[in-house]
Amino acid sequence: MTILVTGGAGYIGSHMALELLDAGEAVVVIDNLSTGFRWAVPEGATLVVGDFGDEKLVAETIARYDIAEIIHFAAKIVVPDSVVDPLGYYLNNVAKARSLLECAVGGGVKHFIFSSTAAVYGNPEQNPVTEDETLKPISPYGRSKLMVEWMLEDVARAHPLTYAALRYFNVAGADPQGRSGQSTPNATHLIKVAVQAALGLRPGMDVFGVDYPTPDGSCLRDYIHVTDLARAHLDALRYLRADGRSIVCNVGYQKGFSVLEVIEVVKKVSGVDFPVTIAGRRAGDPAAIVASNARIRAALGWTPQHDNLEQIVEQALNWERRLHNRRLA
Ligand code: UFG
Repeated sequence: MTILVTGGAGYIGSHMALELLDAGEAVVVIDNLSTGFRWAVPEGATLVVGDFGDEKLVAETIARYDIAEIIHFAAKIVVPDSVVDPLGYYLNNVAKARSLLECAVGGGVKHFIFSSTAAVYGNPEQNPVTEDETLKPISPYGRSKLMVEWMLEDVARAHPLTYAALRYFNVAGADPQGRSGQSTPNATHLIKVAVQAALGLRPGMDVFGVDYPTPDGSCLRDYIHVTDLARAHLDALRYLRADGRSIVCNVGYQKGFSVLEVIEVVKKVSGVDFPVTIAGRRAGDPAAIVASNARIRAALGWTPQHDNLEQIVEQALNWERRLHNRRLA
C-alpha cells in the first residue's frame, strides 16, 4: 500500500513524509513546487511534480502507485492573504480539493486525511475549544478549510471512504534530527519571523496588536511542534486502518502563549534582544484560540512528545541557521 502525500515538498508535508518513511510506509509526494522544494522531499519518497488539482495526473498517479490512502496538505495557508485574495484561496483550497476527492473516489482510495485548521472556529466562545464548538470562521482561509470538511462529510456518506480532518493549531519548530523545517521564503508565521529577527535576517519585527481582550493584550495561540503534528496523522491513519469511523480532531497542546510571551522565549533561547515594534491589528486574527485535545488523545491515542516551547524555538533556530547557510553555499 502506498500513501499519496499532497504538498509533501512543503513544511508540514515534508515532516509527514519523514514520519511515514520512518514508520516503514511507502510514500509518493505530489507537489507543484510553488512553495515547496525538491530537496525537502526525503530520500525514499517518490516525487511527482504537478498540481494536486490536475485530475488526469492525480488519477494516473493513484493507479500507477496503487494508492489506497491520501494525506492532503497542499493549500494556501496565510490568513491575511486570504482576506485579500479570497478567490485564489477558494480555487486552491476548495475547488482543487474537490478534484482531488473526485480522483480519490474514482480510484478507490480508502482513507483520506485532511489538514484542517483551528481557523474554522473563528473567535471561539470559550477556550480550550472543543470540536463541538460552533464553527464560525472569520477569514476566507478558515471558510475554505471548513468547506472541505463539509465535502468530506458528504463524500464519506456517499462512498466507501473514511476520513480524518485534523484541525491544526499553530504549527512550529523543525525536525529534531535537523532533516527538515519551515523553509518558505517571505514567511509570515510568528515563530519563524521572530527567529529570523534573532538571527539578524530581518531588522526586527512587529507585534500585530496589543489591544486584544487577553492578559497582556497580544493574541493567544496554541503552538504545536511539527513532528507531533505529523505523528497525529500517522495515528489517524492507523485508526482509520483499524476500521475507525471518520473523525474530526483538534491537534494542539491545550496551552496558550501570547505573541509577547513567544517573542520573550525567542529572545531568551537565542540570547538576542532584537527590535520589536508594537503595530496595529492584522486582518483576520482571532484574539485567542487554544485547543482542547481530549478527543485526539482518547480516540487516536495521540501523545505529544515535543510539548516544550523552548525546544520548539531552539529547533526552529537551528533550522533557520542551516537554511541560511544553505542559501549562502
Ligand atoms: N504575529 C505578529 N507578528 C508577526 C507575525 C505574527 O504579531 O510578525 C502574530 C499574529 O498577528 C497572530 C500570532 O502572531 O496573533 C500568530 O500568527 P501566525 O501568522 O503565526 O499564525 P496564525 O495564528 O495567523 O495562523 C496559524 C496558521 C493557520 C491556522 C491558525 C490557527 O497559519 O493555518 O494558526 O490559529 F489556522
